Amino acid sequence: MLTERGVLMQHLRIVQAGDRILLPTTERLEIGLPTEEREFESGFVAIRSYKDLVEVPDRLRASLPSSFDVIGDIAVMRIPEELRPDQEAIGGAILRWNPRIRVVMDDRGVKGDHRVRDIGVIAGERRTTTVHVEHGLRYRVDLAAAYFSPRLASERKRIADSVQEGEIVADPFAGVGPYAILIARRRRPRAVHASDANPLAVALLRANIAANRADRIEAREGDARTILREIAPVDRIVLDLPHSALEFLPDALAAIGARGTIHLYRILPEAEEVQTIQHIRTAARAAGLRVTDLRRRHVRAYSPTQNQTAFDVTVARGSRLSGPGRSPTAGRTSRRRANRASGRRSEQTGRRSGSRSGRPRR
Ligand SMILES: C[S@@+](CC[C@H](N)C(=O)[O-])C[C@H]1O[C@@H](n2cnc3c(N)ncnc32)[C@H](O)[C@@H]1O
Repeated sequence: MLTERGVLMQHLRIVQAGDRILLPTTERLEIGLPTEEREFESGFVAIRSYKDLVEVPDRLRASLPSSFDVIGDIAVMRIPEELRPDQEAIGGAILRWNPRIRVVMDDRGVKGDHRVRDIGVIAGERRTTTVHVEHGLRYRVDLAAAYFSPRLASERKRIADSVQEGEIVADPFAGVGPYAILIARRRRPRAVHASDANPLAVALLRANIAANRADRIEAREGDARTILREIAPVDRIVLDLPHSALEFLPDALAAIGARGTIHLYRILPEAEEVQTIQHIRTAARAAGLRVTDLRRRHVRAYSPTQNQTAFDVTVARGSRLSGPGRSPTAGRTSRRRANRASGRRSEQTGRRSGSRSGRPRR
């Protein structure tokens, strides 16, 4: 009965004390038996996986998911079709396996323009909200209202680490804010423009900016194209809309100041990466920009045939002879003045494109 209710802590040892047997539970229960509060030791048999606790027909055991995401105190997993009748048993096993997980959800994929998960609670508390901690920052998320994935934590750190002091950064597909807030809190940008078309995401973004005291961020609701036009010129843009980021590339290129970097994400097979690189070069040329650096990096496997891949594109305005410098202030003057200013800055500080002008990886 305790197992069915999901309150028995199976990783702890049951204690025999005289003629009594003490069972460790997650809470005090009124079930007509005496209770007491005491310490329990860890069991001898380590439960390595929720699979050790779940009861499903033997023929379906191989279909049990081997991994799932944990967002705050919510476990999010993809239940295979054949295991749907057993989803409550699976959810219950996860709750018993890790008492810190309070909700288990079935994820049927990210859908629509706002990239929101189609999810349902299969065990635990009936809620879709939680607080997730990433790189020491706290994010309120609502998995049924706005996109969030914990799998991009390392990528967000990589991008934040590349931000230089004084930059103006744009995050026009900000979701609940994990790129923008990390950059604002861990680096020294002049400003971060974080926006999203999903009003529910923007409400969470605003709450997260306040909760993390990320006061260099300006949050807005709106379409990326419009916002990029309004905030231009900027030094760095995160184009995190992998299924259609290329469509926004011309707008991003137009929003870059004298020089800047765009991080463009795509989901595609490796064979199509060279085509994307050519596309980026052509778009930059059409925008009157030179590509001074272009790198690609696999962020994660998305499916057996596709990766989420980052293309880091650094571009500069003007001819080769003008010697563009890296200037966080460039964007706030006219482009011609900006080029001049950045040239001066590079001579004075010696901080120039040398470190970033490695040959493009093809
Ligand atoms: C893949 S999510 C990325 C969220 C965020 N960068 C993160 O790491 O959690 C893409 C986001 O882009 C937003 N979006 C989709 N189309 C948009 C558009 N045209 N303009 C602005 N935002 C858009 C969606 O609402 C969604 O929040």
